[in-house]
Amino acid sequence: MRMTEYTWDAYAALPLDTKVELLAQRDGTPFHTLFAQQFNRGILDELGTLATEIRTIAKSRAGMQFLQSLLGHKRAMLYFSQPSSRTFLSFLSACQILGLGTGELRDASTSSEYKGESREDSVRTFSSYFDMIIMRTPEKGLAEHMAWVLSNSERPIPIINAGSGQDQHPTQALLDIYTLQRSFERRGGLRDRTVVFVGDLARGRTVRSLSALLLNYPNIEQVFVAPAPLQIGRDVLDALDAGGVRYRLGDDLASALPNADAVYMTRIQDEWDKEQGESAKIDTSRFHIGVEEMKLLPPDAVLMHPLPRRAEISVEVDHDPRAMYWRQMRNGMWIRAALIATTFGFGRRIHEYYRENL
Ligand code: ASP
Ligand code: CP
Repeated sequence: MRMTEYTWDAYAALPLDTKVELLAQRDGTPFHTLFAQQFNRGILDELGTLATEIRTIAKSRAGMQFLQSLLGHKRAMLYFSQPSSRTFLSFLSACQILGLGTGELRDASTSSEYKGESREDSVRTFSSYFDMIIMRTPEKGLAEHMAWVLSNSERPIPIINAGSGQDQHPTQALLDIYTLQRSFERRGGLRDRTVVFVGDLARGRTVRSLSALLLNYPNIEQVFVAPAPLQIGRDVLDALDAGGVRYRLGDDLASALPNADAVYMTRIQDEWDKEQGESAKIDTSRFHIGVEEMKLLPPDAVLMHPLPRRAEISVEVDHDPRAMYWRQMRNGMWIRAALIATTFGFGRRIHEYYRENL
């Protein structure tokens, strides 16, 4: 069956595996990109290769002109109703690299939503003018609902989830995996590693999406270090149990660091506090990396962070060669360009150009 043959309630109740199939294009890559579980190892390897080819091609003027000629006939709408710096700008840059025209809406008070227009009608309006919607929202599941709405409309254009509530941030997970792949590519690849997640794991969507993507790699142990009220959710652990993945939970960062291959720090997500000051009551001071903590981390480990950071990583650490977060952020632009090119079926053209010219 296709997505259009389900009512919203029937579609929403489907198991994840079935949704993944319904959301895939003929070649298996996602049409709508909604959650991390849509990416298998083959697609992840393909996107990583494509991202590296695009960044190499983009180094020359001729290469950039080629890339910009690819999707000059397409336009993307950036609909960000929640704050963002790097996801917004890296998607915008990725569109510019591939020649897509863009429009943006970042503040509902400047749109007709302010006059009471529903989200469904807003998104259908965007689909009248654009060929793709890149969407960040505070609501869990809204991007998925809009994907269903569009698939059932006369303009079934793809949606990319650029962060949805506390639930998913699939393209962040893509750039995190790409960063890990590149970090370990000359050292046996992304396998037989220990990844330590630190901080607000209960409400951080990046950790949830990355944990799911890591299931595609052999023998990756996941360690979750957080204060008890901010520890990782049961649903994430259930997925690890189902995948036969080793994991540990704890609250002692110092004891986790010496065995880590990658440390993934996160910010306390206090915008989700139910009462004011709720997060401030939790002692988060031990979930911090400074110069002293870096001494506990193996010399070939990597330190990551989706950013923005607050106090959880001292700025003095930025110059340490293991600090990967600025490179990680730049990787986002290339992997997002690869995802957009793939969504529109332009991966092969890029591979051909790369083979013939570089
Ligand atoms: N920028 C990431 C997100 O939007 C992480 C964060 O905000 O802490 O989920
Ligand atoms: N990592 C990330 O999503 O950053 P922004 O919230 O600034 O987009």
